[in-house]
Amino acid sequence: MTDRPGPGPEADADGDLEILLELIRDTRGFDFTGYKRPSLTRRIRKRMQEVGAGSFSDYARMLEAEPDEFTALFNTILINVTELLRDADAWRYLEREVLPHLRAEGRQIRVWSAGCSTGEEAYTLAVLLASVLGDERYQESVKIYATDADDDALRQARAARFPLRSLVDAFGEDRAEACFERNDVGYALRPDLRRAIVFGRHDLVQDPPISRVDLLVCRNTLMYFNADVQRKVLANFHFALNDDGCLFLGRSEALVTRTNLFLAVDPGRHVFRKHPQAPSVRPPLPPPPPADPADTRRQARNLLEAAYDSWAPAQFAVDTAGTVVASNRQARTVLGIGLAQVGRPLRDLEVSYRPVELRGPIEQALAHRRPVTLSEVEHRQPTGETVYFDVVVLPVERAGALLGATATFVDVTAARQLRQELERSQRELEIAYEELQSTVEELETTNEELHSTNEELETTNEELHSTNEELETMNEELQSTNEELETLNTELRRRTSELDEANQFLESVLGSLHAGVAVLDTDLMVRAWNAQAQELWGLRPDEVVGHSFLNLDIGLPVGELRQPVWAALSGAEEKARLVVKAVNRRGREIACVVVIAPMNGEGRVGGAVVMMEDGSDDSFRE
Ligand SMILES: C[S@@+](CC[C@H](N)C(=O)[O-])C[C@H]1O[C@@H](n2cnc3c(N)ncnc32)[C@H](O)[C@@H]1O
Repeated sequence: MTDRPGPGPEADADGDLEILLELIRDTRGFDFTGYKRPSLTRRIRKRMQEVGAGSFSDYARMLEAEPDEFTALFNTILINVTELLRDADAWRYLEREVLPHLRAEGRQIRVWSAGCSTGEEAYTLAVLLASVLGDERYQESVKIYATDADDDALRQARAARFPLRSLVDAFGEDRAEACFERNDVGYALRPDLRRAIVFGRHDLVQDPPISRVDLLVCRNTLMYFNADVQRKVLANFHFALNDDGCLFLGRSEALVTRTNLFLAVDPGRHVFRKHPQAPSVRPPLPPPPPADPADTRRQARNLLEAAYDSWAPAQFAVDTAGTVVASNRQARTVLGIGLAQVGRPLRDLEVSYRPVELRGPIEQALAHRRPVTLSEVEHRQPTGETVYFDVVVLPVERAGALLGATATFVDVTAARQLRQELERSQRELEIAYEELQSTVEELETTNEELHSTNEELETTNEELHSTNEELETMNEELQSTNEELETLNTELRRRTSELDEANQFLESVLGSLHAGVAVLDTDLMVRAWNAQAQELWGLRPDEVVGHSFLNLDIGLPVGELRQPVWAALSGAEEKARLVVKAVNRRGREIACVVVIAPMNGEGRVGGAVVMMEDGSDDSFRE
């Protein structure tokens, strides 16, 4: 940078300032040329003083030498003075008269805080909008775009924390406590309210505006720009606002709106409304730099060549005679067709047959003027890695004339791998599906079996039920039979005891007789045999009872008694008495007196009683 000659030191300084501003614009993209000169000059000089630069040109050299100085300069030029609810009266008016009427129910409310500095303006907007709309509507509809050209200020804005005192002073105790939360370093806006604020870098002079805005707050920023830039920025604001949108400017900026773009709502509070009929001008895009046509063609060719060279698939071209005429970087790397190979016949190069025979397809493409594609050609790289190419041979024509052909090697390794994985997954899916199907079938079969088992069980259950009923009936019958039997039993016991009594009585009767007594039934079987009979003949009752009397082997000649016994049984004789020779149990011969009498009962002869007594000592008594 050189000092430029001029009419005097003042003019020199002005010229140098402009050069400095152009330098900043061209190297850093920040355009201060539209800023009001008095304050801009003061700010730059302040910085120059701090770093000891004597003139604008010295300072320009310093900036070129130390790029970090730009940041310090910007921080000096861009004045970030701001505070919460700055100019409270105007904000109260906005809260009362404007905020409640922003947009109809259900639509988003878009607010733009342009030149937001360290964010206080955006936080003020959030608190007031939350109070006016209520938390719910705020959360679902409010978006606050807070922009500034100063990155450092934006960084602070994003992390803003406030002391409680300043919040209470600005919003009062209730609102401050409702909208802010305490953390380590101070009070931060509640996260649900904070989410609606988007901080971003935006240069009002150079960048296109944010669109469809309902409320545009740009306070104490326009005043740094000269009239031309102010007009341009205001035109952008007009474009940015919705037809019923409002503009809220700073205290000293009311006059700048004397354009036909805005209508004053309350000029004292710096509130304006967009003039919907005023023509809105879409901000122009920056014009392209003028260019020399020859340069343009050269640049275009260079660009084309560079683009071809850096194109991802490997490609080379052959003319109609089969000579290699071009190859790109990938072709050099992957196929080994370097500059040395360009100009040589394709048939002499390895690429003509490896990784795939190419002469045939190229001839075919040239002959038929149609593309030929070879799919998934395997190629083993020097690294040992295997890659797959789709090789596309394309005839190249211009204005109907055939110039040659290109061979393009598109790497499809990843796609192939993906396809294989897809196929494998599909197969697995099919197997899984089949397994599922068979499981489902098994389940169905099992289900049917269960169904039939259930039916069987139900039948069995019914059978059991009826068997149970039968058993219960039988049980009842048995119970009654049992009762009958018990009655019978009791009767039987009674009879038995009667019988026992009768037997005992009989035995005692028989026992008390001096004679031996044998009681016979009608078949001549012995029914009773008393002790005297045992004493006489030596046989116990159990050896005699049940045996035929006439067959007894005793000392009494029972054969001789046959006739009188039969006579007694037949009722022919009342009683017979006879004396027979006999031998008693001691082997002594005795004269045995035998009396046989019929045993009458129920009108018929039921047996016979045979009384036997030793008559040798005449002790026998009838
Ligand atoms: C004094 S502050 C105003 C802050 C706030 N609006 C207020 O009124 O409290 C001015 C802000 O305008 C910003 N500014 C200056 N030139 C700008 C530009 N071209 N584009 C965007 N912001 C700019 C500055 O960085 C600074 O933060």
